[in-house]
Amino acid sequence: MKRKWWHDKIAYQIYPKSFMDTNGDGIGDLKGVISKLDYLKELGIDIIWLSPIYQSPFVDQGYDISDYYSIGKEFGTMEDFDELLAETKKRGMYVLMDLVVNHCSDQHEWFKKALADPYGEYAGYFHFVKGKEGKVPNNWRSYFGGSVWEPVPGTDLFYLHLFAKEQPDLNWENPKLREEIYRMINWWLEKGIAGFRIDAIINIKKEPDFASLSPDGPDGLAACTRRLKKMEGLGEYFEDIKRHTFAKYDAMTVAEVFNMKEDELADFIGDDGHFSTMFDFSAHTLMQGEEGWYRSRKPSIKEWRDTIFASQQRIQGVGFAANIIENHDEPRGVSRFLPEYAKNEAGKKMLATTSLLLYGLPFLYQGQEIGMTNCRREDIAEYDDISTKDQYQEALMAGCTEEKAMEACMENSRDNARTPMQWNAGPGAGFTDGTPWLALNPNYTKINVEEQERRSDSVLSYYKALIALKKNPEYKETLTYGRFVPDFEERDTIFAFHRISDENGQDIFVAANYGKERQTLPLSGGRAKVLLSNMGREEERMEEIRRTGCLTLDSCEAVVLL
Ligand code: GLC
Ligand code: CA
Repeated sequence: MKRKWWHDKIAYQIYPKSFMDTNGDGIGDLKGVISKLDYLKELGIDIIWLSPIYQSPFVDQGYDISDYYSIGKEFGTMEDFDELLAETKKRGMYVLMDLVVNHCSDQHEWFKKALADPYGEYAGYFHFVKGKEGKVPNNWRSYFGGSVWEPVPGTDLFYLHLFAKEQPDLNWENPKLREEIYRMINWWLEKGIAGFRIDAIINIKKEPDFASLSPDGPDGLAACTRRLKKMEGLGEYFEDIKRHTFAKYDAMTVAEVFNMKEDELADFIGDDGHFSTMFDFSAHTLMQGEEGWYRSRKPSIKEWRDTIFASQQRIQGVGFAANIIENHDEPRGVSRFLPEYAKNEAGKKMLATTSLLLYGLPFLYQGQEIGMTNCRREDIAEYDDISTKDQYQEALMAGCTEEKAMEACMENSRDNARTPMQWNAGPGAGFTDGTPWLALNPNYTKINVEEQERRSDSVLSYYKALIALKKNPEYKETLTYGRFVPDFEERDTIFAFHRISDENGQDIFVAANYGKERQTLPLSGGRAKVLLSNMGREEERMEEIRRTGCLTLDSCEAVVLL
C-alpha cells in the first residue's frame, strides 16, 4: 500500500453550528472555531473536517446548499474562513470542507432558474421527469420519508429529491453540471484546503428509466437505497470527478458511503481508488438495522465486536478506512455502544482505546473527547432535525405508541450529537452568551471541558494520552501500519487485538473488558511494558504480569501492552 501523509494523523469533525458562538446569536461560527484551534492542537488533532458552512436555508442543517461559493452569514464571512485557514496552517493543521453535490438547495439559483423555465437549460441540471398519468414517476421513498418526487408547478413534470424536497438532486449525466461542480471544487482547493469529506456520493448516478422497486413498507413505497444493489458504472463518475479535481491537487478525500457492494472496496479506497478513504460505518449500520429507528437493534457485545473485527480484516491490505465512534448523523457512541454498567468515565476511556488504536484513521467528533452523551427530550417539538421528525411519524404509522416513538428518537436522533459543545458549567455552557439554537444537554454542568482540563484522570486527559501514544515516534509505525490481529475471540466480552508491524517486529497488544465480571487473560510471550491503562494501573498490572504471566482486567478496564 502506498503511504500517504494523512495515514498517521488524527482527524476531528466540527459541527460548526454547535461548536463555539462568539457573537451571542446562539449559533456557532468560524471565529469560534478559530478561538478553539489551540484547544484542538493540544488534544493532538491534525485534520479538521468542517460540516457545511456554506450559504444555506438550513432545512437539513447546511446539507442543503444555496451557494457553494459563499460562507453562510450565520458562520461569518469569507475573510473569517481565510483567517481560519491561515491559522490552521500556522499550527500545522489541515482543513477538509464538506462536499455536498448529490443535491443542492431549492433556493440555489440553478433550481430557481429551472422552476422558472422547466424545459430550459437549468432544468437539465436536475431530474425533471414526466409523471405517469398525473402521478409520480415511480415508488421510491426518500431518505427522509415520503416520495422522492415533487411536482414542478404548472407542468406535468416532477423533480427528484432523494433527501428532503428542499434538496433537489443534481443531474450528473449533464456535462454542464459536472463542469460547474468541478470548477467549484477546484476553486476551494486553490484556496489551500487539504480536501473534502464527500457527502452521500453513492447516490449521484440515477437509472435512466427510474424503474419502480417492490414496495417494502406500509406506505407502499420502496427505500431508494435498494436501487443501489444493482447499480453499475458508478466508478466512472467517481473517476471523472477525481481526474478533473482531487488528483490535480493531491487532495485528501473521505467518502461517506453506505450501501457499497462489498467487492468494490478496492475500487473505492485501494491504491488509486476513487477516494483516499471512507468511513467505516459497519458498527453503526449493525445497530440501525434496515428499517426505521423504532426497530433499531441491540446487538450483543460479541456481535458488535465481531462486526468491527470483520471490517478491520476486510479493509487492511486493501486500503485505509476512517474509524468513528459517532458523528453528526449518529447518536453519541458512549450512549449507544456501552452497556449500562459501563456508562461511566472508565467505560468511555475503554471505548476510546478500542476505537482509536484500530487500523485506520481516527475521526473524533466534537464532544467525544469529553464523553458527551445522548440528550433526553420530552416532546417531539424539541427536536430540530428533519430526519427525527420523519422517524417519529414513521414509528407512529407503524403502530408504535407515542412513548415508544419518542424512545426511538431519544436513542437514535441525529440531534443527540448536535447539542452544543459543553465548554464549561456556566450559563450557555461556555458555548454562547445568548440562547443556543438547539437546547443544551443539561448534563453540561457535570460534563464539560473546563472541569476535565483540571483533572488528570478525566476522559479528556485520557484522550490526550491516547492520541499522544498513537503519535509517539516509538510506536507510531506499528500503530499506523501494523497489522490488525484479533485475540481472545472466544471470550464474548473481551475486545482484544494486536497491532503487529512487519517493518520492525513490534507487537502492541490492546485489551479491554466490556463485560461485568473480572477476567484473567493468559499472555503468551513476555510483555515488557504497560503503555496505557484507563484506570491508572500501569504499575500494578505490569507487576502482576511479571509475576503470573496473566493480565487481569476488571469490568471496563482497558490496557495497552508492549
Ligand atoms: C449525509 C449527511 C447528512 C445529510 C445527508 C443529506 O448523510 O451526513 O447529515 O442529511 O447526507 O445531505
Ligand atoms: Ca454566532
